Formats: sequence, structure tokens, C-alpha cells
Amino acid sequence: MENIRYGIVGLGNMGRAHRQSILDGKIEGLSLTAICDILESLPEKRDGEAQFTDVDEMIQSGEIDAIHICTPHPSHRKIGIKALEADLHVLMEKPLAVDKADCQALIQSYKDTGMKRVFAAMFNQRTDPHYTTLKDLIDTNQLGEIRRVHWSVTDWFRTEYYYAMGGWRATWKGEGGGVLLNQCPHNLDLFQWLFGMPQRVTGFLGFGRYHQIEVEDDATLLFQYNDGKNATFITSTGEAPGVNRLEVIADQGVVTVEENNILWNKNEVTSSEFSANSMSGFSKPETSIVNIPIEGRGGQHIEIIQNFINSIREGEELISPAMEGINSVELANASLLSAWKGKTIELPMDASKYASILKEKGDNSTFQKKKIDAQSMASADDFAKSNKT
Ligand SMILES: NC(=O)c1ccc[n+]([C@@H]2O[C@H](COP(=O)([O-])OP(=O)(O)OC[C@H]3O[C@@H](n4cnc5c(N)ncnc54)[C@H](O)[C@@H]3O)[C@@H](O)[C@H]2O)c1
Repeated sequence: MENIRYGIVGLGNMGRAHRQSILDGKIEGLSLTAICDILESLPEKRDGEAQFTDVDEMIQSGEIDAIHICTPHPSHRKIGIKALEADLHVLMEKPLAVDKADCQALIQSYKDTGMKRVFAAMFNQRTDPHYTTLKDLIDTNQLGEIRRVHWSVTDWFRTEYYYAMGGWRATWKGEGGGVLLNQCPHNLDLFQWLFGMPQRVTGFLGFGRYHQIEVEDDATLLFQYNDGKNATFITSTGEAPGVNRLEVIADQGVVTVEENNILWNKNEVTSSEFSANSMSGFSKPETSIVNIPIEGRGGQHIEIIQNFINSIREGEELISPAMEGINSVELANASLLSAWKGKTIELPMDASKYASILKEKGDNSTFQKKKIDAQSMASADDFAKSNKT
């Protein structure tokens, strides 16, 4: 079968990193036939690689079968819909879009095309063995009923320099949010992938708590489920070194996912069975320690792109279908809305009301952000070389 003709739009941090992976031969079954950025400083032109400064022209050029959209999130809706309407396969960087209404528009547009093409999202952390192993434990019901979840993911430390790169970052108008929309789509996606969507969300957020930005860089979230399960989700871009500790409290014991292993403090009998049958008032079930060592972080971005290509060529099941990208966006949006309103938000939330509040925030903002656009391209090259996940 012919190679899939691949186009990348947005040659900043992420787009350059993906282009480098393709040029390094890390992905099979595709040829990079076009790139596009509104900046004139595109990478040096290579044979067989058309260059565009207008994405509409690239979409209509006939040079590509698939497009990878690596532009800032506010443009995801417009570019995504144009690409879907042009019958291209689409891989969208996370988040799927800035708000739930934009996600709905993208999904509707995909449905309108008859869903004949492949529409995927870059949730590369779904390839991480920490999470695939945990998902397997949950899906095969080895943990029994899940009763509580705590996830502290505060290792997303970012500097003032980071926020100053790219004028769109960390503004209501340019990005539509902060840590919940930029860094945490990964974790919020994993959260809903592992535990399902909650019915109520309450957010306690710090806006510009650690950085000179107007959006949130600190969040403590409470997710409530109708089955009685509660979950906390804590994140920040201002704490170093930070932690990434996921604790799942289930009928069959406590599972902690952290660093290079999964530790399962396993009840020999479930806590519900023990409670029902014990003739003592104060005893607990016997436990054993199950240590599941985890090696590496999985294939990350390269695996997602390879899966996208394999899905186009051979119908391989997608690791991260774009249709599921709406859930992490809704969790982020509901958390922001909750903090602004000072109340708990019921899900599903009202998408159009949220979109108009967010627009108002952007339109009324007088915040002056520090910008260092000139240096951001050097930074993009560093990012590409570091093959950052
Ligand atoms: N999956 C991941 O791990 C990961 C990591 C970083 C960024 N991202 C996502 O990738 C996207 C881009 O982030 P980034 O850090 O690379 O941003 P960036 O600012 O470094 O790069 C964005 C690029 O898009 C270009 N651009 C903007 N509008 C355009 C348009 N209409 N047509 C063509 N080019 C346009 C800009 O000129 C810039 O070069 C974001 O949605 C972000 O969330 C994902």
C-alpha cells in the first residue's frame, strides 16, 4: 500500500517535534508531503515537502491524505472542520478544542462526513504502561468496586519564560485557560478513560498564583459520582519538584501509581465481604503487597501517530479517538465555571453558556502579558531535539 501523504500544520514546539520524529524514520507508512505555518521562518525546505503559509491552501492542495493539527487550541475547531469537510484524516493535538461547544461542532462535522475517515486525538499518555496496566486491573474487575480516587499531579512545573513564549499562551482569549487546558488534558483524559465521567464538578482554582498570567496555574478539583464515589484531582505548574501520585481506593485494596511501579496493597478478601462476615468489631482484612514494576513510558507521541497511520491503512483500532476528547475539555471547562461561580457544576454542562462566558472573559481582559515571541523558535528546536513527552 502507498504511504499516507502527511501534512503538519503549526510548526512550533509540537509540530517541529513530530516533523523531526518523521524525518528520523521513527514512524512507518507515511511520507511528510506538506507543512504549514503562518510564520515565514519555516524549517529548511526538503525534497517532496510542499510548504504553505495558508492552511486552507494546504488542505485543498491535493498534496495530503492526512493532517496533523499542531496549532494553538483556539484554531482547532476551524482548521479541524475544514480538514474533515475536505475528506482528510485528522489527528488533533490535545486538547480537542478550547471548550465543549467547539468539541461538539468538531464531532458533528465528523458525523456529517459519515465518519469514513480516521479522526484521532493526541492523548499520548494513553500509551504509558503505568496507565495501561492500571486500566487492565480496573477493566478486568480485579480491584472490585472503586470507592475513592486521589490524583496529585503537580509535576507540570513551568517557568515565567515558558508563559512568555508564544503570545497565545495563558490568556483567556489566546488559550482559553491555563494548566487545566494546556498540561492537564492528558491527565483529565486518563481520568475519564480509567474511571468514567463524574456527575458533579467543584473547582478551587488559583489564577496567576505562581506566574504573571491571568488564567489558572493551580487547581484543586472535586469530582462526585452518583454511585457515591468521590475523587480529588490536584495540579499546579508552580510547584517543584512536584509529585505525580495516583491513589485508587477499591474494595480489593489500595493501588498507588507512582514513579516506576504500581503498588497494590491487596485485601485477601474484599473489604465489603469482610465487613459483612467478620465476627469482630475492629479487625481488618489481611493484606498482601503486590508490586508491579513498570519500565519506560510507552511509545507516547510516536505510538499515537503510528496508530493513526495504521488505522488509516489497516483499520487498526484507535488508541485515542477524537470523539473521546470532549470529555477532558468538559472536565476543564466545568472546573473553571465552578471556580468563577463559586458553586458545584452538574454534568453534562451547558456548553453554549460556558462558551459565551469564556468569550466575555477574553473580550473584557485588560491583562498585559509578557511576550518573547522572537525566542520561541529557538525554544521549539530545543523541544523538538528533546523528544519531550
Ligand atoms: N501532546 C502533547 O504532549 C503536546 C505538547 C505540547 C503542545 N501540544 C499542543 O500542540 C498545540 C500547539 O502547541 P505548541 O506548544 O506547539 O505551540 P507553539 O506556539 O509553539 O506553536 C504553534 C504554531 O502554530 C502556528 N500557527 C498558529 N496559527 C496558525 C494557523 N492558522 N495556520 C498555521 N500555523 C499556525 C504558530 O505560528 C506556531 O508556529 C497546542 O494545542 C498544544 O496543546 C501538545
